[in-house]
Amino acid sequence: MLSINNVNVHYYKSEGLLKEQQTIRAVNGVSLDLAKGEILGLVGESGCGKSTLSRAIMQLQPVTEGEIILEGTDLTKLTRSEVRKRRLDFQMVFQDPYASLNPRFTIYSTLLEALQQRRPIAKVDRMDAIAALMTRVGLNPDFAQRYPHEFSGGQRQRIAIARALAPEPKLIIADEPVSALDVSIQSQILNLLLELRDELDLTMIFITHDLSVVRYLADNIAVMQKGQIQEYGTSEEIFDTPKTEYTKTLLAAIPKLPAA
Ligand SMILES: Nc1ncnc2c1ncn2[C@@H]1O[C@H](COP(=O)(O)OP(=O)(O)O)[C@@H](O)[C@H]1O
Ligand SMILES: [Mg+2]
Repeated sequence: MLSINNVNVHYYKSEGLLKEQQTIRAVNGVSLDLAKGEILGLVGESGCGKSTLSRAIMQLQPVTEGEIILEGTDLTKLTRSEVRKRRLDFQMVFQDPYASLNPRFTIYSTLLEALQQRRPIAKVDRMDAIAALMTRVGLNPDFAQRYPHEFSGGQRQRIAIARALAPEPKLIIADEPVSALDVSIQSQILNLLLELRDELDLTMIFITHDLSVVRYLADNIAVMQKGQIQEYGTSEEIFDTPKTEYTKTLLAAIPKLPAA
């Protein structure tokens, strides 16, 4: 469904008195394949290039080299207006829903705008469409006229997920979506994402610095370090028989539950 072939993303920075150009190889020769309905966990420590890779897939960041093929189309070859049309097919969910939701919009307005990106909805049908979307992510539709600040962190992340689902995307990239949430809330959001994958046959890239989060969520896991994929395998392979020292270090960093 999605094929990332040998992708490089470089940043160019001019620094110092002589304005020497410095090249930051944030993503360096990454190749990954995702099947339809798959959840890929993309894991690695802060600064390894996870967000850069996700922005490159979304065409929010120019790809220096390589191909990103979504259902047969190389996204890197599209014109700006073609990208704008295709973008409804891939949506993002970010770590901080408070920053990504407009504080002056009610949930109703935010979701209506997101729904109407695909096609206009007649006035009489709007409340039903929004109620269905809110129910799908576990929110009470009675709260549609409330503003983002009136919700808890977990509920706000549900709103952000509803907004991402509204244009009926094929691919969702969630960049650290539970990293700002309490552990008890984290598992509720992870369960919601699993349910949505099963109901809607969504393909998902779930980005996290915390390997423990993707254990039960991801089908496959790619471990990234310094812009490169160090290790790739099924969730069981990564957890049960890690091959690289780096993956073993990440596994060792997961706090163990005390023995009962
Ligand atoms: N806009 C930018 N300009 C220059 N360098 C950047 C930019 N964004 C990220 N970087 C650098 O690229 C590398 C990867 O960053 P990032 O993709 O944000 O990693 P991660 O999401 O894994 O924490 C880091 O060295 C970071 O400093
Ligand atoms: Mg990041």
